[in-house]
Amino acid sequence: MLIKRPADIRPSEITPETVWRSRRRFLAGTAGMAAASMLPGLASGDAGASGSEEGPVRAILRHAGKPSHRSRPAAWHQAKVEGAVPGSWYADDEVTPYDYVTQYNNFYEFGTGKGDPYSNAQDFQTDPWSVEVAGHAEKTGKFALEDLIKPHQLEERIYRFRCVEAWSMVVPWIGVPLASILKPLGPTSKARYVRMETLHDPRRMPGQRGFFSSIDWPYVEGLRMDEAMHDLTFVALGVYGETMPPQNGAPLRLVVPWKYGFKSIKSIVRIEFVERQPKTTWELTNAREYGFYSNVNPEVDHPRWSQASERRLPSTLFEPNRIDTLKFNGYGDQVASLYAGMDLRRQF
Ligand code: MTE
Repeated sequence: MLIKRPADIRPSEITPETVWRSRRRFLAGTAGMAAASMLPGLASGDAGASGSEEGPVRAILRHAGKPSHRSRPAAWHQAKVEGAVPGSWYADDEVTPYDYVTQYNNFYEFGTGKGDPYSNAQDFQTDPWSVEVAGHAEKTGKFALEDLIKPHQLEERIYRFRCVEAWSMVVPWIGVPLASILKPLGPTSKARYVRMETLHDPRRMPGQRGFFSSIDWPYVEGLRMDEAMHDLTFVALGVYGETMPPQNGAPLRLVVPWKYGFKSIKSIVRIEFVERQPKTTWELTNAREYGFYSNVNPEVDHPRWSQASERRLPSTLFEPNRIDTLKFNGYGDQVASLYAGMDLRRQF
């Protein structure tokens, strides 16, 4: 379950043959590739290319069927995602099928049921999109998403994703390290945390219209600066080789693979560099159950359930597919040092 860099080990030795192709040359945009649930399709499509002597390389996982939404991403966004390259971080676990990743969601802005975001976010339009940058940084103001993303090469990373509700997936995200977006903004020495907000627009997000909604919108999340700048912390603009579906947080969402899924805030419209630890949505909703750090930790139970194991989707009543939960979701070698000296039972 450990992640390894390709430099350490041949990818083909640790990953199903079908997820990798034995050649350096990666052909972006290869048509007709099958979804990961039909992995054999991934091995095809590049006849005629050369370079096998250079060693193995991973192919990007692409969904071949109809996209799971009707929103129309910007042309530049589409082109960026199509031009993504395989990245250096990948879990060697079996990847969760596309339909689970895009139809079993938590996105309370579109409803609280697992199928609600898929049903209610189909037409959510995310072009144009801008992100407001505020706080302790040299460059602040309103930025078109295109200007923040265009300078960067997008890459695919396959991460384990563990929800605090004790289910998990393995997801092929496409995006860019958060640090690549934050560094050019020039955070100053007063920037000790990053606070992020999701769009608040009840006309477009039906879950925000609910009179009885227990959440104080907008959805807010935050990271300590060293967490935000860590190479594993990722901003995803796509999944399964396609632009991010609205139900997964289009057009851009955070992915922090060693933390519970609720830290991975969706549809971000505001980034603020702050001095004090920000109050986050789930902490404000129930501080006894949800902390600021929320590192995946099998040793610290949720007050209402154990966190020692998880249901890896797909999971059914008869085949629950229950596995042990790993500390920091298996990314301890990379991130445990960020928390040296901290009592993770108290600072959960
Ligand atoms: N971001 C916003 N804005 N609203 C939400 O309700 N849910 C969080 C997180 N980000 C949520 C959010 C939770 S609880 C989880 S587990 C993940 O999104 C789910 O991501 P997924 O639907 O892509 O699997």
